[in-house]
Amino acid sequence: MEPTPAAWADADTYLADLLVGHDPDLEKVLEAQRAADMPEIEVAPLAGKLLGLVARISGARRVLEIGTLGGYSTIWLARAVGPEGRVVTIEAEADNAAVARTSIDAAGVGDRVDIRVGRGADVLPTLVGGFDLVFIDADKESNTIYLDWAAKLGHPGTVVVLDNIGRDGEIVRDDSTDPKVIGTQEGLRMLAEDPRFDATALQTVGIKGWDGIALALVV
Ligand SMILES: C[S@@+](CC[C@H](N)C(=O)[O-])C[C@H]1O[C@@H](n2cnc3c(N)ncnc32)[C@H](O)[C@@H]1O
Repeated sequence: MEPTPAAWADADTYLADLLVGHDPDLEKVLEAQRAADMPEIEVAPLAGKLLGLVARISGARRVLEIGTLGGYSTIWLARAVGPEGRVVTIEAEADNAAVARTSIDAAGVGDRVDIRVGRGADVLPTLVGGFDLVFIDADKESNTIYLDWAAKLGHPGTVVVLDNIGRDGEIVRDDSTDPKVIGTQEGLRMLAEDPRFDATALQTVGIKGWDGIALALVV
């Protein structure tokens, strides 16, 4: 096979069909997002399942998400924490939050999910800590602010997942003027240098193109 974007997408679809399969509640989230003209920037199915597995493997009961969109990743996380667990998810756009609320309730996990509408930098200082897992997937320009709050609101052993760290390979460009690339580079540098974290990163290719995630532990 030639390693083209089309081949990456085909292999991604093959793996998702095999390992995620048909999931009516999650498919309805995507339909609701499309009906509301929201961008298709949710995590891919395999990445959503990875998030859920990371939450389960780490035994997370309290999860914080920054960037709800239509609730796709939120549902993976809410399922993973179980009936006694809680997910707090922050979304800047009230319209997105309303779509997410409907989809999360329809998926049967509404009682575990607290959606806070507002900008992450404003909402985070109002939260009580003790989060076991933090998923950062909002405005990339604020990555270092979100990482700082992840450490403050977490505890030793908290897992931090930072999304979209690949950015089509643009992260290697030290002359980039794209605020999203610069925010991603700053977040990665913080994960490398800040003694509160021990981190790695994995590039991904698939239906969402060439990207990746960073995975960190609060030490
Ligand atoms: C990539 S989407 C989140 C996707 C979602 N995590 C998923 O995988 O289903 C990013 C979301 O962050 C929201 N957002 C952007 N800036 C924000 C901010 N400053 N504070 C909170 N949310 C923000 C956007 O409105 C958008 O819904």
